[in-house]
This record gives sequence, C-alpha cells and structure tokens, in this order.
Amino acid sequence: MNITTLNTTNFRNIVEFKHDFSPSLNILFGNNAQGKTNIIEAIYIIGTTKSFRRVQDEKLINFGSEYVKIDAKIVKNEIEKDISIRFSRNNGKKILLNNKPIIKHADCVGNINVTLFCPEDLMIINGDAANRRRFIDILLCQTDRAYLSDLINFQRILKQRNNLLKEIRESRKTELLEPWDEQFCEFSCKITTKRDQCLRKINKMAHKCHQKLQFNENLALKYVCSIYSIEEENQADCKIAFKNKLKRVLNEEIAKGFSLLGPHRDDLEIEINQINTRFFGSQGQKRSAAISLRLAEAEYIKAITEEYPILLLDDIFSELDEQRKNDLIHMLQKKQQIFITGTSLAEFAGMAPEAKIFYIQEGKARIHAHTKQTR
Ligand SMILES: Nc1ncnc2c1ncn2[C@@H]1O[C@H](COP(=O)(O)OP(=O)(O)OP(=O)(O)O)[C@@H](O)[C@H]1O
Ligand SMILES: [Mg+2]
Repeated sequence: MNITTLNTTNFRNIVEFKHDFSPSLNILFGNNAQGKTNIIEAIYIIGTTKSFRRVQDEKLINFGSEYVKIDAKIVKNEIEKDISIRFSRNNGKKILLNNKPIIKHADCVGNINVTLFCPEDLMIINGDAANRRRFIDILLCQTDRAYLSDLINFQRILKQRNNLLKEIRESRKTELLEPWDEQFCEFSCKITTKRDQCLRKINKMAHKCHQKLQFNENLALKYVCSIYSIEEENQADCKIAFKNKLKRVLNEEIAKGFSLLGPHRDDLEIEINQINTRFFGSQGQKRSAAISLRLAEAEYIKAITEEYPILLLDDIFSELDEQRKNDLIHMLQKKQQIFITGTSLAEFAGMAPEAKIFYIQEGKARIHAHTKQTR
C-alpha cells in the first residue's frame, strides 16, 4: 500500500504542499522547525483521521487561516482511492472518500495503514500504562473495525458507569448498576480478548525483530489483565470471572467513585532477558525495544492486510548508533513505502539510491537531487 500524492492547504506551517511520492523511499530533510514532522503528521492523519500529537483538530489549522485541507491519493491491495479531510474553525471536520462524505469518521480508519516511529515511542517503554494501552489500541483499531467500535462503546459505558458509581455513593441504590454491568462486562471481555490475541502475535514478531537488532537479547511482551487470568481463554469464562471480581470490589468502587477493573486499567509487560525493561533497562535497550515493537506492528499489519503499512520514521536515526542504524536500514529495505526525516542528508548516506528527496524549509518542500549524487 502507498500514498501516491499528498495535497494539503493550511496544514500547520505548510501553507501549500502538492507532491507525488516514491512508492519506496522518501526522505524529508531540513533544519529544525521547518515542517518535516508536520508532513509526517498529515500522512498519519490520512491513515488514522487523527494526529499522533494528541491535539484538537483546530491546532492543525495554520495560524491565521480558517480551515485546513488534506487530500491524498492512496493505493491499497491495488485499489486506488481518494481521501479528503477538512477541518474548519466554524464547521468542524469533514471526511470524503472518493468524493463521498463519510458520516462515521471511524469508517475511514484502515483505508491505508501507517506505522509511526518517533522519539516519543520511548514512552511506550518508560511511560505509564496508558501509553502501552494506546500502542495496542491504535494497532487494533487500524486492523479491526469491530474493535474500534467496541472501544468507542466501552468508553461510553465506562463514563456512564463512573457517573453512576458517584451517584450510588449518595443514593446507595446499587441496583442501578446491574444493566450497565452486563454491557460493561461484555465489552471489557471483547476488548481484552482481542488485545491478548494480538499481543501473543506481536510478542513473537517483536522477539524476532529484536534478535535481528540486538543479538543475545530476548524481548518478551505479556498482557497484564485486570479482569481475568490469561488462562481463561474463552469469552464466557472471561465474563464470569469478571463479574465475580466486580462483586468483590463493588464497595471500594462506590467509595472511590470510579471503575477499578477493566481494559482501561490493564498494562503490557515488556521484558528483556526476563527483566522488566521499564524499571531496569538501559536507555539504549529501551530505545531498541521501542523500535522492535514498531517493527512488529508493521509485521502484524502485513499479516492481516497482506501489505506492509506505510512506515513513517520521524527523527529516529539521530538517536541510533551506526551499527543499529545499519541494521535497521537493512531490515527496512524489504518493507514498502517509507518516509524518513532528519536534519541532514548525511544521515541517509547508506540508503537506497531510488529515494525521492525533499528539502523542507519554512514550510515549503523542494525536490532535491538524488541520494546517489549526494554521497
Ligand atoms: N497551526 C500552526 N500554524 C502555523 N505554524 C505551526 C502550527 N503548528 C505548528 N507550527 C509550526 O510548524 C513549525 C514546524 O514544525 P515541525 O514539527 O514540522 O518541525 P520539524 O521540521 O519537524 O523540526 P524538528 O527538526 O525540530 O523536529 C514549528 O515552528 C511550529 O511552530
Ligand atoms: Mg520534527
């Protein structure tokens, strides 16, 4: 799959951008604060409808402009599609697929898949559990539309349930919870089961990728589930186990006024050589583990969709030593379309000669000479 053309207007500091891309390697280079990550962000939004920077859509509109437009031509499984996303300060967000408006924006996710590598990925290892849940949720949302809809439903029910718990603290009418708990258990089990299944696959893939990047190190991932033990495999067992656990914590939940168990409390344990990387890993080990997770994500998407996702590598080369940089380049060669950013062309000296190179300066992109001429 790939993105053949990107055409944006008023996207952050990029007032106009209209370029075709190479189906393999695209290099974006330029000084700091010129607009490289902004271009990566626009491509990411085409895949997921949302920014990875977790900002409101309005922030994407160029200062002083009223609207932003991101248009792209994409190809997936040999089918060409046009995606157009517009946000305006007054009229919100509109998405068009092949010129037809999409009512449920979630339906647009997965038309093209993207995997982003960025320095902030370290948070998946170092940060709190929400970062790790986000990693797995975004991956599942990109590859399984039913998961996205289950997650939206779960979040709605969780909010209601938390409001009710606060209400019950005053009224003591615990029977109010019953109808909500049925749905709460149902969606919780759907989500945890899918996360667990996905992570078992990711675990194997990440282990393999990590072995290639970091000899002698064994990377392992495990889903830490608050509602059932991983051994209880089927949905029915999961629901029974969860309902029983909920009964045991009911009084505590009422006292605290929020839900103490469920997919919103789960975590992912990441170990290197059986030692928890979050607490005991070196900076370099954490960085490599984060890259291995992203490589595994790309492999997972390939296994589901039969095509590699578009790889967006924002500013990660500057963080890697020569050996790891070379290993990573070697591993990426077979992957599909790649966008990679950096501050100088020298960072990409070893990369494929067929790259299309863009020089980014003050929000404008100029096509630069070929890599082979820059060596
Ligand atoms: N809504 C907006 N309107 C106009 N400019 C914006 C907007 N949002 C961000 N910018 C500006 O865009 C500029 C480029 O940001 P970007 O993150 O793309 O830089 P970069 O080239 O990736 O730099 P670095 O090498 O430091 O990562 C920044 O100076 C930022 O202030
Ligand atoms: Mg940047």
